[in-house]
Amino acid sequence: MAVTTIAVNFSWFSVNRIIFCFLAILVKAREKLMKVTALQSSEVPISAMTTKQQSHMLKEQVGSNSDDPGESYWCALQERIESTEEAMLRGGRAKALVKKQFGPQCFTNVPQLYDSYQLTYGWPDSISPDKASTLVYKGYLLARTLPWRELSQLKTNGRMAAKYRRHPKELEELTRRQAEGNLQVGDVIDIPSKMMLEGCDVDVAYTEYVRSNFANAANVPEVIYGGTTHVALGFNDLGFLLSAELVDSPGLSEQQLPLHFVGYDRCPFAVAKFKVVAEMLKDENVPLEHVLQIWFSSTWTTGCVASFKGKVQSLLATDIEEGGNQAEVGNDCDNKDDLTKVKTYLSHWAHVDPVSQAEARQQHFDLLSPDKVCGVYSFLRENDRTALMHYVLTGEIGLQELSCKAAAEALVGSMTMWSVPATAPPMMHDNAFSAINIGLLAEKRQGDGDSIVNVFERVQLKALARLRRLLVESRVVIKLYNKTLVYLPPANAMLQSPARVKQWASLVQEIAALKPRTMSWSNLLDYFPLTSFHDLCRACSAAATEMPTIHYGYSMNWRHKMYGMRLEDLEDIRGMGDKTCCTFSPLDKNYKQTNQVRDTCVIPGFLPVNTVYGECAAAALVPHYMAHFQEKAQQSAEHWAKYRQGLATLDAGEIASLGVGDFTMRPKPKFLYSSPLDYGFAVSHFAWAYAPKTCMPEAVLRVSQQYTREQLQIPGARKLPDIGGLHGR
Ligand SMILES: C[S@@+](CC[C@H](N)C(=O)[O-])C[C@H]1O[C@@H](n2cnc3c(N)ncnc32)[C@H](O)[C@@H]1O
Repeated sequence: MAVTTIAVNFSWFSVNRIIFCFLAILVKAREKLMKVTALQSSEVPISAMTTKQQSHMLKEQVGSNSDDPGESYWCALQERIESTEEAMLRGGRAKALVKKQFGPQCFTNVPQLYDSYQLTYGWPDSISPDKASTLVYKGYLLARTLPWRELSQLKTNGRMAAKYRRHPKELEELTRRQAEGNLQVGDVIDIPSKMMLEGCDVDVAYTEYVRSNFANAANVPEVIYGGTTHVALGFNDLGFLLSAELVDSPGLSEQQLPLHFVGYDRCPFAVAKFKVVAEMLKDENVPLEHVLQIWFSSTWTTGCVASFKGKVQSLLATDIEEGGNQAEVGNDCDNKDDLTKVKTYLSHWAHVDPVSQAEARQQHFDLLSPDKVCGVYSFLRENDRTALMHYVLTGEIGLQELSCKAAAEALVGSMTMWSVPATAPPMMHDNAFSAINIGLLAEKRQGDGDSIVNVFERVQLKALARLRRLLVESRVVIKLYNKTLVYLPPANAMLQSPARVKQWASLVQEIAALKPRTMSWSNLLDYFPLTSFHDLCRACSAAATEMPTIHYGYSMNWRHKMYGMRLEDLEDIRGMGDKTCCTFSPLDKNYKQTNQVRDTCVIPGFLPVNTVYGECAAAALVPHYMAHFQEKAQQSAEHWAKYRQGLATLDAGEIASLGVGDFTMRPKPKFLYSSPLDYGFAVSHFAWAYAPKTCMPEAVLRVSQQYTREQLQIPGARKLPDIGGLHGR
């Protein structure tokens, strides 16, 4: 009997348990269904294409050079290294021959990382050790053979056609001018500007098929003024603000009025992500380590996810909620669709769970190729090389040695990298070390045990703490909008494009009304015909009559337009001695490095030969580009009258009465050392105003000596323009 009671009780208990579990599953499923329904109802497609389709488009646009060239290629590289090493051992004539053929740099000793990395970190979980170690080894082969392998090809083939030029019309023009004997080192081949001036419309816009989590170039500290407005076009990631030098405006210092930072970006992802970051920065309860992870890392702690989701929810409930502050909402985007795209990212993040760390690592690893790994070998200390290799392989930042608490928490995939709507643009491999000045990191190192990854985390946390203080004390106010800047069609085509003129005028008028004291343009000047770019700048600064607007912007692509920025452009490439070609002496004598940098890594790094050459030649050739930039500013002033007519016909309002005026440019660009971890190099940061030189504050004109390179003369180059006089009209 007792047994039967127990059995009955037991089965009762079991049935209850089963019913309970069943109900729990139902509730969970309902919750999930509700989440999905809510998500679907608030999501709009970010693009008409899936991420994969956009990936294909991107590859077509940029031309993929990251596909593995195949086994025979790697075997040939290995053989070359072996024969060089053998020659080194044998010494004498064999060594002299190899040196003659490839230059002295072929004997550079690049230590293998295979063992030391494995000993320090072990191959990262979730990535196949075979694949990871092969990649590390291929990176080594590249580091050992660049740049002399390419150099030897160049010397063998002589002066190759300028086939690397991006625009087919550029190649056409180069070939024609070469044949006419009308081409010199220092000439700028700028087809888009030429076409616009000839009345042909041209599309040079930045690709829409990419989603960057952070900038791909380091910012230089530029001056911005309290109590004024700074407008940032193509702001991408708030890095400009993070490194800017905030000073009080004369006369306003007592009141400590806030700087209004107004950012515009075409990409709804950048707006959504950095709206969340700005909210997290404003809230002192959110650990700054969480902000650092969200900005840069491919993996987050669960605590970080909670902080992120908290701010996503509060943004959804306030800032951009339809029916909220309509004036604010109306201002947020070009149109309602764009507003919904920003919101789509936010509600996606509110409703989905992060992927696992394993999945994040795999996705990150899939974006890698040997050329992304090779730069790690340019670092001189073993602890830097292993820590950087771990970063490159995993994409993880802010999780290593900084916070024991963070290390104890569970890890999951970054939501901004790996949890996005199915139509979001794809990511390319981004490297956080291209977004920071490597010279600054070298300076801030505290002793030999301090790896460069640690220094990165410390420096960024300090910068974030500073920005947080400014936000909390209301000395900086951030507003971010999802809007697209367009340029005017050529004057003769304006009547055919009233919608574009309207879009141009509406954003330009909105910005002009803010009377910006300063503006930053990222490298948008590379993505507009230069004359049209100057039209935009002039129009945006037209209303700031008392204090003319100061403009900051940088060019990454000027080197593609500059004849002489590739070795094969030089007349005497075949005859160039090994010394000149391989070590770029005397060019590299002029490339000043601080002791800390010299002590940290090889700059410009073990990179393709033209990267190394271009990095050294940039200081000599950039004045020619600056003179070209100035010429286009003047042309924009001259043809403005034509535009004025067209704009008046189209009733584009006040803009039609914009004035022209002077032009002043900082006489030298600011250069930073390029990170050996990526191929972006010779990035030149300019500052200018459409006003006489007297209006440019001394602090803006000044170029910190620490990061400038002396000017030098390249054999066969044009006489340098007088860049000291880059002002006046
Ligand atoms: C010009 S892109 C290039 C990448 C840049 N070097 C960086 O590190 O951010 C910088 C930002 O400009 C934005 N952008 C590109 N074209 C734009 C346009 N016409 N109007 C507004 N933003 C634009 C992009 O979405 C991107 O976030």
